[in-house]
Amino acid sequence: MSIENAISIADLRILAKKRLPKMVFDYIDGGADDEITLARNISRFRDRSLVWRALTDISVIDTNAKVMGAQSALPFFISPTASSRLFSPKGGEIAVAKAAEKFGIPYSISTIGSTSIEDVAAATKGPKFFQIYVWKDRGVVKDIIARVKAAGFDGIILTVDVPVAGNRERDPRNKFTIPPKPNLSVITQMLSRPAYLMDMVSSGKIDAANFKHIKTDGGGIIEFINNQFDRTVTWKDAEWMRKEWGGNFAIKGISTAKDAQNCLDIGTDAVWISNHGGRQLDTSPATIDTLPAIAEQVKGRAEIILDGGIRRGTDIVKALAMGATSVAIGRAYLYGLGAAGQIGVERALEILKSELLRDMALCGAKNISEITRELVV
Ligand code: FNR
Ligand code: LAC
Repeated sequence: MSIENAISIADLRILAKKRLPKMVFDYIDGGADDEITLARNISRFRDRSLVWRALTDISVIDTNAKVMGAQSALPFFISPTASSRLFSPKGGEIAVAKAAEKFGIPYSISTIGSTSIEDVAAATKGPKFFQIYVWKDRGVVKDIIARVKAAGFDGIILTVDVPVAGNRERDPRNKFTIPPKPNLSVITQMLSRPAYLMDMVSSGKIDAANFKHIKTDGGGIIEFINNQFDRTVTWKDAEWMRKEWGGNFAIKGISTAKDAQNCLDIGTDAVWISNHGGRQLDTSPATIDTLPAIAEQVKGRAEIILDGGIRRGTDIVKALAMGATSVAIGRAYLYGLGAAGQIGVERALEILKSELLRDMALCGAKNISEITRELVV
């Protein structure tokens, strides 16, 4: 199968598995503990049924939406994920940002991205957000916010479901760390993927491009998170950060109505429902199951973004119908990135876009506001 022949996100996953060393594919594909939440995020979308409004005029379908105040041509956008250059050493974050710009949707870069804030800003004119964690050293946070401002980013996303790193058991089984440390297992996995290996050795060193001054002590990203992220962070710090930034602000990793209210209380623009794609607290509920209570609490006072398990246009329709204002995608574009760099991400976006357009037509919804609650039964 070639990238042009991939007709579903599941096809892109197969292609990514073929191109990437096992440890890299598993880092994308895997989740925490027994991967219960990872599977649930997907299956709970599939448990729900869609009905349609018959005989409505759907000659023109309008998919325009707002994401953190920014205009988006589609109601889905790029969720922040760590170290894109690990998945596509030459393409990396820039490949993803360029694909997003082509489709008119926002791009988000992770705190632990492998391309600098300034390089991403130079590569794309599209809306872009920076994802942040609260670090022990508030000076580091202040510096980074100033850089994000200077680079003209449109929003900051504070991720709150990583007080410590989750337990992804595929990684130690594969003897994998970010960046990968050479050992027999890693070398064997690399050698079995020569095209990837060539790509990797012919492009520069992969590192945490925005924190070059912080030492990882050789322990890799999980140790880095556990050492550098502040475990004493509370809502007061989130409020401090929102004020320090002053622009559009989302809190990512919300699972209850009570925390959605806490977001509103500090003036958050977007409440972002997420369980980090099942990579953090395993057995937590599927995001789609937590949406109704949160939508009821928020009552239109802020945007609601949802991520976790989006693999089909119907998943997007269901999330919007149940109260999300937009959805974010993670693995769906990462499989494309791993399979073929920028054209792989474009393929992923094209697949989801065409599925969404068809599903809206089938549901009798000609714009996002017509994707209403009664479509999901
Ligand atoms: C992530 N995610 C993530 N989130 C975040 O806020 N900062 C980060 O650095 C990362 N890194 C990361 C790496 C990888 C490989 C994955 C798969 C995910 C979580 C991501 O933004 C999103 O919440 C989930 O990926 C959504 O679930 P799906 O779409 O992958 O099912
Ligand atoms: C992950 C962290 C690094 O999900 O956010 O891999």
